[in-house]
Amino acid sequence: MNYRASLYELLGGDEGIRRLVEAFYPKVQKDPLIGPLFPDNIEPVMEKQYMFLSQFFGGPSLFSDQHGHPMMRARHMPFPITHEKADAWLACMNEALIEVGVEHELRLFVIERLSGPAHHFVNTD
Ligand code: HEM
Repeated sequence: MNYRASLYELLGGDEGIRRLVEAFYPKVQKDPLIGPLFPDNIEPVMEKQYMFLSQFFGGPSLFSDQHGHPMMRARHMPFPITHEKADAWLACMNEALIEVGVEHELRLFVIERLSGPAHHFVNTD
């Protein structure tokens, strides 16, 4: 693995992040634990996630440019998030990474990188 490249580059840049987000949300919607938290019209959520993950993985600051400071924990406060839900979110992301063909080592690294934030967003038992 090229450790100097950003995760954004390693995941295939703009096109790669789009494909990842498009693979991720159908899994989220089907998940019995977290699916019900999301609106039927998932398009706006996908767009925000594409902008956020681009930035989070070291690409262009698309999310902040349009929506200001991410404050992601605060943005998740309206939704009851347990550790089980954080794990369900990460499992969907893991499946999405497999689906878009991200290789094993990079996939584990990406999941590790997202585990901190996911469990940090837990706001209820
Ligand atoms: C821990 C489990 C998580 C759950 C259950 C969860 C759930 C949700 C829900 C219900 C929304 C709102 C959808 C709507 O607009 O109605 C949302 C928005 C969002 N989530 Fe998560 N999320 C989780 C973790 C994460 C993680 C780890 C990230 C990124 C690292 C993330 C990034 C986002 C972004 C960027 C938005 C859009 C925020 C906005 O409206 O500005 N989420 N999430």
